[in-house]
Amino acid sequence: MLPIVLIHGFPLDARMWESQAEFLRKRGMHVITPDLPGFGKKTPLPREQTSMEAFAEEIHRIIVQEAGGKAVVGGFSMGGYVLQALLRAHPESVAAAMFISTRTDQDTPTAREGRLKSIEHVTQNGTAALIDTMLGKIMAKQPTAAVKKRVKEIMANQSAAGIINAQLAMAQRRDQTDLLTKLEIPLLIVVGAEDAVSTPSVALGMQAHAQGGAAMLVQIAAAGHMAPMEQPAAVNDAILAFLNTVHI
Ligand code: MLT
Repeated sequence: MLPIVLIHGFPLDARMWESQAEFLRKRGMHVITPDLPGFGKKTPLPREQTSMEAFAEEIHRIIVQEAGGKAVVGGFSMGGYVLQALLRAHPESVAAAMFISTRTDQDTPTAREGRLKSIEHVTQNGTAALIDTMLGKIMAKQPTAAVKKRVKEIMANQSAAGIINAQLAMAQRRDQTDLLTKLEIPLLIVVGAEDAVSTPSVALGMQAHAQGGAAMLVQIAAAGHMAPMEQPAAVNDAILAFLNTVHI
């Protein structure tokens, strides 16, 4: 089995994958969970150099150095945008792709405006309000207190510079929907049934664009956007079932 690289979302870091990494490692798999520049232990790139493409280059460097040049790659939300940029720039480095709680379209003008306002707010007041707003949107209707606390803890560790740069880069990201129609590798799409950010209908649209519906789509019950942390066992099972079908 090729190494598995899992790319975190915003504003999170590698720790969001604790459960998946442990589960897959216990089954003998080589799992790499990098921090993106500006998150976790990594320093931010200069603002004008921050983009989904620049993040993808960092992931590609890791795949070359730590995975022998090819891996199964999973991306959660913003990590999914990075995975799409990686698939466009270095398709040979991805043997199979797992899109988790993500989407392929670009921001609407309203979403972009919201990001710019949030950048202004973070610049002036720090990251607390952004984290509270996000926590209100990214969990299932009845989140468990422990998961909410852990997500908040990870978010609160991220620097304002990392958050601002990534927010700007996401606002400027391109639409990648056409990429799905061209991919000829196994695809997994995972979505929380209660995800209000990248909804089940977004996931269905992605599946329809992918190779005439050849992507495996798994909907996770009682989960919002943070499905890998809210319902880790169900997400782990979905990943394992997918990996068992791809034989890489
Ligand atoms: C994420 O979870 O990475 C973000 O919600 C992505 C986004 O803001 O588009």
